[in-house]
Amino acid sequence: MLAGEFGGLVQESMKHLVKLGEAYNAERMLEIKYANSGVGFAALVMPDGRNLIEDAVKKGFRLKVPTTLGQDLVDFDNWELMKVPRDFTDNCRWAMGMGMKMGMVPALACAPYEVVGMDWHPLGTSISSVESSVIAYFNSVMGARTNRDFTASFFAAVTGKYPEFGYHLDENRKGTHLFEVEAELRNKTDYSALGYYAGEIVGLDVPVFDGIKAPKMDDLKLLTAATAVGGAVTLCHVVGVTPEARTIEEAFCGDKPADKIKVARSEIEDTYAELSTDAEGGVDFVWLGCPHASIWELQKIARLLDGKKVHKGVTLWITTSPHVKSLAESMGHADAIRHAGGIVISCTCPVLSGGCPGPTYAYNHPEYSIGNFATDSAKSAYYAKPMLRATKVFFGNREKCIEAAITGRWS
Ligand code: F3S
Repeated sequence: MLAGEFGGLVQESMKHLVKLGEAYNAERMLEIKYANSGVGFAALVMPDGRNLIEDAVKKGFRLKVPTTLGQDLVDFDNWELMKVPRDFTDNCRWAMGMGMKMGMVPALACAPYEVVGMDWHPLGTSISSVESSVIAYFNSVMGARTNRDFTASFFAAVTGKYPEFGYHLDENRKGTHLFEVEAELRNKTDYSALGYYAGEIVGLDVPVFDGIKAPKMDDLKLLTAATAVGGAVTLCHVVGVTPEARTIEEAFCGDKPADKIKVARSEIEDTYAELSTDAEGGVDFVWLGCPHASIWELQKIARLLDGKKVHKGVTLWITTSPHVKSLAESMGHADAIRHAGGIVISCTCPVLSGGCPGPTYAYNHPEYSIGNFATDSAKSAYYAKPMLRATKVFFGNREKCIEAAITGRWS
């Protein structure tokens, strides 16, 4: 591959992976079984102007492993509403088309495991993925092995290889800190607050949660996503729940935790307060669905909005994958949300999408602000100031966010 026998795209991909492996002292290349790539691969143009993707596609090149395209930079149904320029949208469509010709499945979701899967049993399997929330979920809940990758995921998909370092190695998968969860976790936003709290304490390490009883998939989705934002957590364990932590001993591989932290209700409440800039005020924008909402979440949101109307001047967005949106359309939930004045956005989210509020703006443009912002996710609360230029941030559970969308106030 490195010598160029399999073409320019394979050669450049392998060059990158070799450099990555050398930087981390990897001893060998692993065979990977699945990749989740970002759309950034489409920018792979050589200094001499050669477009390696187009060249490879013309020659009928196929990715070496099952590969999904993660979340995109545009909602192909709502790009005009989101004020995304046409040429930007066309570029994203072109990139997706190129990916599909190479065999990529367009999950267009930051929870691709909910809609597509990886065409391989995950436990103990080396994969390569973009996007911190899905990476943390793949590692923690599914027991697959991935580092925090970016374009390396595409190169891994092209070659089927990845250097053996980081979370592919047993020694880096053992727990470091024990969180004894005494607080009752009442909803998925409590899980999000807990994840953020733990992430802030452990940074790059591996938290182990003990005392969490019977979480749902969406609870674990919010927990893992928030650990990756409070710190830069790539892997966590939940004792008796996640596959590498059937017991505390297994989670720590027999080692002693570096620290034991008790989590009472006060720690959860303090995290709500920490991520909120204010306790009350008018609301301009409500965003639910970070990470992308499952059909179960959309169903609950539709029921909460039943017979209600979003307050004049308030924008309510629910972000999800196109596949879940299509299911919600066929079940009538999307209509119910629209009827109430909400909008179901798919493929992307405000943090990723370009465009608003004008042809050259992104959400973080200095002249733009999303206004007073409410969310049920620690991740979007965290990004609200730097990425969406929110004036006030309100972080609370789904019911509270829907109430704010209807009344136009947070209290
Ligand atoms: Fe997904 Fe965007 Fe949140 S990528 S995890 S919805 S910030």
